[in-house]
Amino acid sequence: MEFREALQNRRSVRSYQDAALEPSIIQALIDAAILAPSAVNTQPWEFWVVLGRDRINSLSDRAKSWLLEKVAHDPTAGAVDQRQHLSDPGLSLLYYAPVLMLVVAKSFEKQANEDSCLAAFALMLAARDAGIGTCWIGSARPWFNLPATKKELGIPESDCVVAPIVMGYPKAWPEGYSRRPATIHWVGKPSDKGNH
Ligand SMILES: Cc1cc2nc3c(=O)[nH]c(=O)nc-3n(C[C@H](O)[C@H](O)[C@H](O)COP(=O)(O)O)c2cc1C
Repeated sequence: MEFREALQNRRSVRSYQDAALEPSIIQALIDAAILAPSAVNTQPWEFWVVLGRDRINSLSDRAKSWLLEKVAHDPTAGAVDQRQHLSDPGLSLLYYAPVLMLVVAKSFEKQANEDSCLAAFALMLAARDAGIGTCWIGSARPWFNLPATKKELGIPESDCVVAPIVMGYPKAWPEGYSRRPATIHWVGKPSDKGNH
């Protein structure tokens, strides 16, 4: 797949086939993720690969309950929307995916988070190139950063879970997506020499 094709055809996938992913394929995606740039080449990331649908479904259920409890008495608009979304009994936060990838920054520093986001996106593009669907589950991030969850998964407390990403072979690729045209502020003209 050409780069532009992978970029253009990547979509968030929320419905997965049962098929597991071969460890060698997951390794190849991580190999792509670490090609991302990072400030001063610190490469402040590590990867947790969680396998097994039952394990992932259990994490999903517990994250959902925790989130529901968290927004239960919060009257802000965002919380009301989230409450509505989460109260759907058919909703699995992790979409019954066969693989959950956690891109983890080795510190809570902002720069390490930004670098890890780049690695996460590189991984998502490489996945698309390999015919694998992904969905970044930002809503589950606070739960994965709880000390008890980290302990269960063996993630050091001083690490920060940046990107919980579910992945697997899609049942179907979502169709049709839209982006607003970019708002671009040009400063100067191509003929300018950069003087002010
Ligand atoms: C930081 C981040 C957090 C996200 N969190 C969630 C989430 O919790 N649940 C979900 O279903 N999708 C989540 N998404 C996916 C977005 O909804 C999706 O990227 C967006 O609607 C654009 O659609 P596309 O990815 O198909 O282009 C998240 C995406 C990003 C980048």
